[in-house]
Amino acid sequence: MHELDDLQILLRSRTPLIFIETREEARAVQLFRRLQRHIGKPLFSWTVTDGLARLDLDLPPQKHNRKAADALTQIAGTGQPSVFLLLDFHPYLDDPVNQRLIKQICLEYPTLGHTLVFISHQISIPASLRHHAVSYQLKLPGRSQLPALIRAEIGRWKLQNPGQDVAAHPEIIEQISHNLQGLSFTEARKLVFEAIADDDALTADDLERINRRKFELLDQNQLIKFHAKALDLSDVGGMQRLRKWLDTRKKAFLSPALPAGLNRPKGLMLIGVQGGGKSLAAKAVAGSWHVPLLRLDTGSLYNKYIGETEKNIRSALALTESMAPCVLWIDEVEKAMAGDSEDNGTSKRVLATVLTWMAENSASVFIVMTANDISSLPPELLRKGRIDEIFFVDLPDSEAREEIFRIHLKRRQLDPLDFNLGPLVESSEGFSGSEIEQAIISALYQAFSDNSQLSQKYLEDEISRTRPLSVIMDDKISALRLWAKGRTVKVN
Ligand SMILES: Nc1ncnc2c1ncn2[C@@H]1O[C@H](COP(=O)(O)OP(=O)(O)O)[C@@H](O)[C@H]1O
Ligand SMILES: [Mg+2]
Repeated sequence: MHELDDLQILLRSRTPLIFIETREEARAVQLFRRLQRHIGKPLFSWTVTDGLARLDLDLPPQKHNRKAADALTQIAGTGQPSVFLLLDFHPYLDDPVNQRLIKQICLEYPTLGHTLVFISHQISIPASLRHHAVSYQLKLPGRSQLPALIRAEIGRWKLQNPGQDVAAHPEIIEQISHNLQGLSFTEARKLVFEAIADDDALTADDLERINRRKFELLDQNQLIKFHAKALDLSDVGGMQRLRKWLDTRKKAFLSPALPAGLNRPKGLMLIGVQGGGKSLAAKAVAGSWHVPLLRLDTGSLYNKYIGETEKNIRSALALTESMAPCVLWIDEVEKAMAGDSEDNGTSKRVLATVLTWMAENSASVFIVMTANDISSLPPELLRKGRIDEIFFVDLPDSEAREEIFRIHLKRRQLDPLDFNLGPLVESSEGFSGSEIEQAIISALYQAFSDNSQLSQKYLEDEISRTRPLSVIMDDKISALRLWAKGRTVKVN
């Protein structure tokens, strides 16, 4: 009801131009239809396919005036003060002729009394018209309205399917309400209805799908990727201290309200040797907290075809906020933020945008950054307060290596009990997790090629054949360790 009041006040305030950026065109039009009964002015719509049409009298569209300029000319010549809803007019706003025609209608408001309402999914108001215009945002359902919206959809579904019941635990309704925040009424209803329709129930399984669909609806520039099947911390060998750190913070991260003096965990940085499981651990954080994993696609961040980088990064960050609680993963952050001398400072501005957001963001968005190379890492990123901790991912110790062997043997339907892990763990000293995995894969190929089963011998041979990166890049790793000492916490 508030919304109708707001719009009514806006129309009465003698504003000639109203801009409504919305994904809910139908609902916006419906609001004006209802409003029309209060204000009594004729109501028209315009689309490029139908031209001008009278909405309050249910007359068929006249199909002329489909050209934007013709429609504006006709509006300027309409004697009775009216409200015109211009749907998807945004491409024609760039045209100087149209801008002038619109301005003329604004200037003649005292005699004409017309209101032009532009409704599109995305509009930028031309500078020459800004002075006459007001932007209005349709309301999104509030957190407290969503459970009722879900129950109404359950009711609607039952009406359509008499005799069928819909299983929906109150706790699930609560969780779904939470996940629907940031969507419009129309979108929220649609997602709930879909979730019911697939199995006559609202269950925990629907949560992930709702999250994914929500992401698709809100995603505008595809800078953020949604990762569906997140891993769990049990897929990561070693890193005990990191796991404990994460376990301790899970509750504070997911709690809707925190006691005074306790801050919401903001994020962490994983620095370390290549193949050490940093990316793996980043994914596992989301999985173990059961929240969506969103990855900032740094590869396309500076893609010139995508357009204005800073505007894009801002809308990408806003997207993660509306997906909260979630994990935002920025992989190999040094590549994304360091930039080079040839980008006119774009990467510096992107870094500044991200840093400001990190400092100000109060939503449950947990940032996990990974970096292989500290020499090109902007120091501002590591400053305390922005992230909670910097972890150093060193090569796995013997205990961690044993776990990594188990994880990767099991993943390939092999029983770790069939192998004598002790000697394998010992001879793989200096191997990264990735190299252990690769050794198992190579041994499997060899065994298959020999028409044989994977045995201890195949694994031992493969390990002795591998020259791990830690040998080849000994200097680099020592330097990294030296840097990490005192600056970081070890994951193990
Ligand atoms: N600690 C680990 N536990 C289990 N698997 C690991 C571990 N470290 C690396 N791996 C394996 O190696 C692959 C590559 O590791 P990755 O996470 O990409 O390393 P990084 O990001 O540190 O370079 C992982 O997908 C995983 O299969
Ligand atoms: Mg990685």
